[in-house]
Amino acid sequence: MKTHRIGIIMNGVTGRMGTNQHLMRSIATIIKQGGLQVGPGEVIAPDPILVGRNPDKLKSLCHVAGVEKWSTDLDACLEDSNYGLYFDAQITGLRADCVGRAIDAGKHIYCEKPTATDTETAVDLYRRCHAAGLKNGVVQDKLWLPGLIKVRRLIENNFFGNILTIRCEFGYWVFEGHSISAQRPSWNYRKEDQGGIILDMMPHWRYILDNLFGKVKGITCLGATHIPERVDENGKPYVATADDAFYATFELDQGIIAHINCSWATRVRRDDLLTLQVDGTKGSAVIGLRECYIQHYGSTPKPVWNPDIEQPINYLQDWIKVPGQEEYDNAFKAQWELFLRHIAGDEPFPWNLLEGAKGVQLAEIATQSWQERRWVAVPELAG
Ligand SMILES: NC(=O)c1ccc[n+]([C@@H]2O[C@H](COP(=O)([O-])OP(=O)(O)OC[C@H]3O[C@@H](n4cnc5c(N)ncnc54)[C@H](O)[C@@H]3O)[C@@H](O)[C@H]2O)c1
Repeated sequence: MKTHRIGIIMNGVTGRMGTNQHLMRSIATIIKQGGLQVGPGEVIAPDPILVGRNPDKLKSLCHVAGVEKWSTDLDACLEDSNYGLYFDAQITGLRADCVGRAIDAGKHIYCEKPTATDTETAVDLYRRCHAAGLKNGVVQDKLWLPGLIKVRRLIENNFFGNILTIRCEFGYWVFEGHSISAQRPSWNYRKEDQGGIILDMMPHWRYILDNLFGKVKGITCLGATHIPERVDENGKPYVATADDAFYATFELDQGIIAHINCSWATRVRRDDLLTLQVDGTKGSAVIGLRECYIQHYGSTPKPVWNPDIEQPINYLQDWIKVPGQEEYDNAFKAQWELFLRHIAGDEPFPWNLLEGAKGVQLAEIATQSWQERRWVAVPELAG
C-alpha cells in the first residue's frame, strides 16, 4: 500500500463552515473512510492539525472529529515541515494576512472565499503562490451541488438550445435577534468586520456564472441594508452597517443576461433557498440546491392572458423532475478530494487563487456600481 500523507494546518475550523463542512463532512469523513483511494493500493491520508484561539473549543472539536492534534500557535505550525498545506476558513478579514504568511512559509494553500477584501491583495496572493511554485485553490463548493451538476449535464447535452437568461432568487429570513436569535454570525452584518452580502455572495456568483453559463462582462448592482439594527451572539444590539441584500443584473458572453436577487431579509415561498431559472430557446430549467425541473419546447404550454376566468393551466405541473443519474457527495468534500489529488499527484485543479480573485473583483465592481449608480464593465483579470 502506498500512502500519500498530507499534513494540513486547518485554521478557523471552530466556525460554522470550518466545523460542519470542511472538518466534519470533508476531512474527518475522508479519514474515517480510510483515506482517499486514488488507485489500486494507493491512498491519500490527510493528517490535520486544528488551529484556533480557544484551547477548550479546539480540544472538544478534536474529540468530536476524531482528530488528535491542535494548536493556538499558527506561527509554530507554519514553521513545522510536517505540514505542507495551509487551509483557512477564518472570518473574511483575517484571511489574506494568514494566507500570505503561509505562502512565505512555503505552504500550499487552500482557503475559503472571499480570498481577500480587495482585488489587488487577492491577485497578489495568487502571484506569490505562482512565483513560489506553490499549489493553490479556493473553495467553490456550489459547483458540486447536485442541482448545479444536473444543469451542467443539461448544458453539456445542449438541452437549452441558446441560453437567453438566468434568473435567481437566493436568501431567507435571518432573524435579527431581538426575540428569536440570529442563525448567522453577527460579523456578517458589520462592514467594519468585512461583513456584507455583496462580498459574501458575489464570489459564488462569479464562479457559477463563469463556469456554467458564460464569462461575466459587466454588472449593475443595487445593494441595501434593510434591517438597521441586529442583536449579536452576546445579546448586545448593534448597528447593522453592512449590506444585507442586493439586486444585480449581469451581462455574460453571448449576450446572456443574468439577474440575481440575494437577501437576508426575505421569506421563502419557492422550491429552495436558492432557485435558479435558466431559459433557453429549446427548453428551460428551474434548479434548487438538489433538484432540477425541466420543461422542453415541445411541452411548453401556450398561455393566453384572461384574468376573467379561473386560470386553466397549472403552471407547476408541466415540468419534469430530472432524476439522479450519478452519485452526489457533499459538495465541499468533492472539491477537497480533487484538491488533495492535485497536491498528491499533480492532477489538474483549475479553481485556483486567481479564480478566487475574480470573485473578489466582482464584489468590488458590484459595490462600485452601487455607489456610483451605474453599469460597470468587468475587465479581464491577468495572473
Ligand atoms: N463556501 C461557502 O458556502 C461559505 C459559506 C459561509 C461562509 N463562508 C466563508 O467562510 C468564512 C467563515 O465563515 P463562517 O460563517 O464559518 O464564520 P464563523 O463566524 O462561524 O467562523 C469564523 C471562524 O474564524 C475564527 N476567528 C478567528 N479570529 C476571529 C475573530 N477575531 N473574530 C471572529 N472569529 C474569528 C473563529 O474562531 C471561527 O473559527 C468566511 O470567510 C465566509 O465568507 C463560505
